[in-house]
Amino acid sequence: MTKQTVFITRPVPQKGLDMILNDSNVKAEIWDDDLPPPRNVLLEKVKGIDGLYCLITERIDEELLEAVGPQLKVVSQMAVGYDNIDVAACTRRGIPLGNTPGVLTEATADLAMALLLGTARQLVVAAEAVKAGRWLTWEPMGYTGPDVHGSTVGIIGLGRIGLAVARRLSGFNVRLLYHNRTPTPAADEVGATYVDLDTLLAESDFVSLHCPLIPETHHLINSDRLRQMKPTATLINTARGGVVDQNALIEALREGIIAYAGLDVTTPEPLGMDSPLLSLPNAIVLPHIGSASIASREKMAIMAAENLLAGIKGERLPNCVNPSVYGENLS
Ligand code: DGY
Repeated sequence: MTKQTVFITRPVPQKGLDMILNDSNVKAEIWDDDLPPPRNVLLEKVKGIDGLYCLITERIDEELLEAVGPQLKVVSQMAVGYDNIDVAACTRRGIPLGNTPGVLTEATADLAMALLLGTARQLVVAAEAVKAGRWLTWEPMGYTGPDVHGSTVGIIGLGRIGLAVARRLSGFNVRLLYHNRTPTPAADEVGATYVDLDTLLAESDFVSLHCPLIPETHHLINSDRLRQMKPTATLINTARGGVVDQNALIEALREGIIAYAGLDVTTPEPLGMDSPLLSLPNAIVLPHIGSASIASREKMAIMAAENLLAGIKGERLPNCVNPSVYGENLS
């Protein structure tokens, strides 16, 4: 029997890889490098494959799908977000797209909290000072920042991850505001109040972004929106860099329009070493590590393998982004 060929764009946690490598009907090629395959190499590697296992670092678009050919049965991404993928192009070709929702919720919420507390309490600046030998005495006014407890926190996007952040904040005695396209009943569970975006930005001491990057949220936080925030406020972004107009944010941080930013995501990724964000003392920038707990990454790798294997067998993907390929609507 002819084996199904799959291309895996990077080594991923072993349990996920083993599921694919141990399947006797599958012949897998793994791009065995720390960096993603260059675009021209990727376009060559995917020619004729039946299944693609990819990461957020690859752009999956018309050109790539064309290069693969009409036999492609599935695209499986090891991530919950899929703004790097032209979903409509997959759907037009009848190709199901798999993702990994749920398993990285808690890890990403933990990281949003780490950024929130880390910016408020100046963790990076203070730790760098210790390492650089600048800890000369106890400073009565050194490294002071805003309190998280008793503050007002605004969550933009009270979905799975936004809710997990809200649950964590319940121990901090904060006033919780949220904004979604429409109010969600889940907000009652965490005592969050629905407000319009203007109110959320004007009243929050901390604003945390948890919405997907879609055309409606591209540069949602722009210069005008930043000016609506308090000059003492902090912006936390663990969603996608494109939700924020980064040049406007840099200006806002420089000019004191807002006080701090904690960013796990930027535009572009990786952020160039010449980005002004890296020399601003009031910004923490992390290399997109929201889901980087050992357990979460393992579960993501397994879920993505399950989606891939189902797809190449012609079965319904356990987690399908575009169920319209099965004649179903997204609920
Ligand atoms: C995702 O899954 O979308 C994260 O951004 C990467 O884990």
